Amino acid sequence: MSRVELRVNGVATSREVDDRTLLVELLRGELGLTGTHVGCDTSQCGACTVKLDGAAVKSCTVLAAQASGGEVLTVEGLSTPQQLGEVPAAFVACHGLQCGFCTPGMMMAIDYYLDTDGSLDDERIHRALEGNICRCTGYVNIIEAVKHAARARAEAGKPVGRQ
Ligand code: FES
Ligand code: FES
Repeated sequence: MSRVELRVNGVATSREVDDRTLLVELLRGELGLTGTHVGCDTSQCGACTVKLDGAAVKSCTVLAAQASGGEVLTVEGLSTPQQLGEVPAAFVACHGLQCGFCTPGMMMAIDYYLDTDGSLDDERIHRALEGNICRCTGYVNIIEAVKHAARARAEAGKPVGRQ
């Protein structure tokens, strides 16, 4: 067993977990943050993507103990009860989802893309999302949502891409 101490969506959290516990299992099972999905458990689909210390990671590939001491952002942390974040709002505006299973992971990968690049270039967006699989939408509206969110972030005066 290991003691894991994390900040998750800005809240300090401490849990005693089995050494084999995955970060996604801690988030969903222990902390009740079920917005993070498990589509494959083998690093293929991207549904489990979260941000760990600012980087997008597939949380089915990280042990909870490895993440100890880190800062985790999940899809729940993109919005507040009062306001949708730019990325979730862009998915609503652009109809970027159908069944929604891939959506939390997509949104976290996009949030990371906006942090680190944020270009409206289709090829760069495709590359940024190549680790995230969607079986419903054909991706067109997801790409539109990326561009919508990038514009919204810039219009709000927030940094887009590495400064
Ligand atoms: Fe982690 Fe599919 S559940 S990549
Ligand atoms: Fe259904 Fe993407 S919206 S898998």
